[in-house]
Amino acid sequence: MTELKPAWWKEMSVYQIWPRSFADGNNDGIGDLQGVLGKLDYIKALGVDAIWFSPLYPSPNADYGYDIADYKGIHPEYGDLDLFKQVLDGAHARGIRVIMDLVINHTSDHHEWFRLSKEQPESEYHDYYYWRKGKKPGGKKPPNNWLSVFEGGAWEYDKGLDEYYLHVFAKGQPDLNMSNPKVREEVKSIMRFWLEMGVDGFREDVITYIAKKEGLPNGFPLPVGTGLEHYTSLPAVKDYLREFKEVLDEYGAFTVGEAPMMTPKLAKEYITDEAGNLLSLMFHFQHMTADCFLIDWIGLPFSLKKLKKAFSTWQREMFWAGWNALYLENHDHPRIVDRYGSVKHRVASAKMLAAMYILQSGTPFVYQGQEIGMTNTKLDRLDQFKDVITFNNYNLFKKLGFSEQRFVKLANRRSRENARTPMQWDATVNGGFSEADPWFPVNPNYGEINVEAAEADPDSILHWYRALLQFRRENPMVIYGGYEEHYKSSRSLYVYSREHEGKKLLVICAFGEKPVQFNAPKGFDLAQAKQVFGNYAAPEPQTNGFVTRPWECRVYLWD
Ligand code: GLC
Ligand code: CA
Repeated sequence: MTELKPAWWKEMSVYQIWPRSFADGNNDGIGDLQGVLGKLDYIKALGVDAIWFSPLYPSPNADYGYDIADYKGIHPEYGDLDLFKQVLDGAHARGIRVIMDLVINHTSDHHEWFRLSKEQPESEYHDYYYWRKGKKPGGKKPPNNWLSVFEGGAWEYDKGLDEYYLHVFAKGQPDLNMSNPKVREEVKSIMRFWLEMGVDGFREDVITYIAKKEGLPNGFPLPVGTGLEHYTSLPAVKDYLREFKEVLDEYGAFTVGEAPMMTPKLAKEYITDEAGNLLSLMFHFQHMTADCFLIDWIGLPFSLKKLKKAFSTWQREMFWAGWNALYLENHDHPRIVDRYGSVKHRVASAKMLAAMYILQSGTPFVYQGQEIGMTNTKLDRLDQFKDVITFNNYNLFKKLGFSEQRFVKLANRRSRENARTPMQWDATVNGGFSEADPWFPVNPNYGEINVEAAEADPDSILHWYRALLQFRRENPMVIYGGYEEHYKSSRSLYVYSREHEGKKLLVICAFGEKPVQFNAPKGFDLAQAKQVFGNYAAPEPQTNGFVTRPWECRVYLWD
């Protein structure tokens, strides 16, 4: 076998910032770039190599930044281009790269292109979007039966034009017509704009949705997601990506594409270890459904076997073939401690989960607040929520007989807004996020869970994350080593080993409170190893195994 090809983006780890809730620099209640500037040393100290910014662009916030009104600007609430350049330079000066979120499946309905497409239907902009006549005169019936992922039907009628426009997401997110070469030129020009400024790459939002089936035929009728098969991973996506790649390659830029419903087999068509790869990495979702059915909102009991299978399949399939993006949290999911860990054993379970994914083969991403073990929030009323998905789901669940109160309880567990509460910096008012009333309520547990408290406690989750990321950086085995799973059929233990140039690592993760007897797999003599991580103070006396404590994690190294 040949060596795995080294690359800076394989060795890096990434911190994701959702700017609205990260740090408020001017005390107006909204996170901003001034706030980020003040936290660059904190990010550096975490030991990451890059920041991925969720959208910073001007946006009317129908989907909090994922509806872009100007791709070459900065949202005035966050600052301006000069301030962004300061952040970029400040990051680079610390050896931290900067990755921008690029949302090109759709724009905002406030984007100039969309306005012109509507007000000047004779102009070239009309064909930037999917404008279609209804099936019946007077706009009675939309062009096809597709449903929006976010709200109702996927078509919105415009009376003035007597035409509908397509929006796979919210009404304020009209889909771009990527089959139009002019639109692709615009995308390339946006890429160049940021790359010229010095950004290092892009996280590409729902990138596998950017091609639509010619003729926009009806989809297979489903209660949700009708039309999916006509806009998910169509062959043209690859043609478009190939075209964008020419620009990206001029700058050696990195890309990670978000890809709902992605499988390893399909992923290999996009990401390969060869020069011809279309994306550096992909975010798939298979490990994010170990406690739900298809979407977070349809909860199921947590299944460790499901989780292990997803991780191990990707580990096996990507090795030598591509590269994994490792994550447990982002701005679209509830907090991981509440999902796959335990709020009761918050510290132990958060540490275990961190080691579980960061020590695998791939590029790890850490979402703001994850590094201090932030948890889901608790809101009392529906009107405190902000997200288009929450409101859409309220309408759906109402039909199933949910009262508002019962729905709010569900949203507190399952909505992605749990990840969007302001970052908890210290125990002062509003968790040190802002002196003004924050745009979204701070999680009431900020007195206990905050960065300052974590800094002061050598056993904190924060210090554990720092140690893990440093260990990964110092041990090529964690980056380039092979992966093997043990104890596959266990319902409470996730055990895997890494191996590289004669060195070995054994990662033992106990999911749950119940004590379980762990015996080291054949070929692993614990007495010969050094224990490099443990979320309980003193390891128990060693035979070649031990009885686990609640959510215990141990990592042993043979070198
Ligand atoms: C992606 C983003 C999500 C957004 C959606 C539509 O899934 O991560 O936040 O709502 O795309 O742009
Ligand atoms: Ca602000």
